[in-house]
Amino acid sequence: MLVHAIPTNATYEFAADVRDGLTRRGQKELPSKYFYDDVGSALFEVISRLPEYGLTRADERLLRRHADEIVDRLAGPVAVAELGSGSGRKTRWLLEALGRRQRTFYYPVEISRSALAMCERELSDIDAISILGFEREYLDGLLEVAACRKPGQHLLVLFLGSTIGNFDRPAGVKFLTEIRRILESDDSLLLGTDLDKPRVQLLRAYDDELGVTAAFNLNLLARINRELDANFDLGQFAHAPKINREARSVEMHLRSKCRQTVNIPAAELKVELLEGETIWTESSHKYLAEEIFQIARDAGFRCEEQWIDQQWPFAENLLIAE
Ligand SMILES: C[S@@+](CC[C@H](N)C(=O)[O-])C[C@H]1O[C@@H](n2cnc3c(N)ncnc32)[C@H](O)[C@@H]1O
Repeated sequence: MLVHAIPTNATYEFAADVRDGLTRRGQKELPSKYFYDDVGSALFEVISRLPEYGLTRADERLLRRHADEIVDRLAGPVAVAELGSGSGRKTRWLLEALGRRQRTFYYPVEISRSALAMCERELSDIDAISILGFEREYLDGLLEVAACRKPGQHLLVLFLGSTIGNFDRPAGVKFLTEIRRILESDDSLLLGTDLDKPRVQLLRAYDDELGVTAAFNLNLLARINRELDANFDLGQFAHAPKINREARSVEMHLRSKCRQTVNIPAAELKVELLEGETIWTESSHKYLAEEIFQIARDAGFRCEEQWIDQQWPFAENLLIAE
């Protein structure tokens, strides 16, 4: 697979974002996109196979079951852009269905170089599919993909795995609106959304028995140690997921087990943490199936079809750009 690599000063941006998040008044925060270095991307792959985390399996069941139907609904010919593809394992079903219809370009867009490499290993054997990866932020990558569009070709954008849930609701609609602006009428967006479920099931999904999700969360501090020369003592932090009922989300935090000071030289920062104080690292918003129709409309799409997994409530939504 050819890959367009990240051209920016990534360490400088990482340091600036860490500094910004950890000097906020009130709740300290770190952006969840920094979970995904080589270690984080590998840990996410493991999470997606854990018995407690039914989300990825539900997404994959829907894609496997409905791939031909989804492809039949697309105005062809199409090129496919996947935002935050991860390993692309579930995408195989769609690409195989598309490959049976036409030769197709598949453009995974990822900030994680190792996820892009996994994606190539996973999907490069599929007939009639050419892969060109973009090591980019979502919208920067999508803009570049759109620039490769051939006359008469439609784009199918994939945003799977309920990654949209990492945005709060208004930011999610804004992000979808930005995607819509890059698209043309009758292009499509396949959007995976995890549906709300009982509290116990949600908490288990983000706090598995093996402690893989805890390691994934703590790796963010380990990454700051590795890349920004910081001295976070991982043993002094606990993985702390919690339900935010009002936002209908699961939040992941890292709770400081004691009063402590951490040095982050590359961010020119000394952070004081109180015992019990948390750093908020991720939100995963959960949806009601019916609210997706309004979200789609607000962002300039119509929801053409919705498929729901009954085993693990999850909706795959085919949105068409109006
Ligand atoms: C929750 S994982 C989902 C992976 C895969 N789509 C799935 O459904 O299993 C999110 C993926 O998006 C990537 N990612 C996160 N933030 C990103 C950003 N701002 N731009 C591009 N990729 C991003 C991560 O590297 C990660 O592979």
